[in-house]
Amino acid sequence: GSASLAFVFDITGSMSVDLAQAIEGAAKILATTLQQKDKPLHNYILVPFQDPEVGPVTITRDPEKFQSVLRELYVQGGGDCPEMSLSGIKLALEKALPFSFIYVFTDASAKDYHLTDEVLSLIQEKQSQVVFILTGDCGNRTEPGYVAYERIAAASSGQIFRLEKAEVNLV
Ligand SMILES: *[C@@H]1O[C@H](CO)[C@@H](O)[C@H](O)[C@H]1NC(C)=O
Repeated sequence: GSASLAFVFDITGSMSVDLAQAIEGAAKILATTLQQKDKPLHNYILVPFQDPEVGPVTITRDPEKFQSVLRELYVQGGGDCPEMSLSGIKLALEKALPFSFIYVFTDASAKDYHLTDEVLSLIQEKQSQVVFILTGDCGNRTEPGYVAYERIAAASSGQIFRLEKAEVNLV
């Protein structure tokens, strides 16, 4: 096992409706990856972000520990739109091993889209995949904070899933 599984989680106030669903969805992604016996993961990384703080980062080799830290996430403060998601993604890429899998859960586009080029060069260096699970986007998909997600997903062979609040499970 040489890759990391990283979850980058928006825990700002506006996520309060989604967070339980998002945690549930993340738990299922974890369960699925644990079943892949041929490509075991080396470790698990959790990066919560609010505004303006990002972290603290949890890095563990124990999926049970990862699961319990994930379930203890709770929303705090913030709640405006957009959010500091690229700072969270950047931190996850820095901590993750090469060829890793990064899942981003948020309901907002990026406030910190000035970090896009740094994130793109980290993706190239780490050859990692970034998948977005969005339950919102601040209402404008042509503004740079949303276009940043499209560029990151495209550059990393990732994907963007846009979901209604109750659909996170479907991912
Ligand atoms: C969406 O964002 C683009 C780019 O920033 C801007 O030109 C456009 O006016 C915005 N649209 C709305 C409806 O706010």
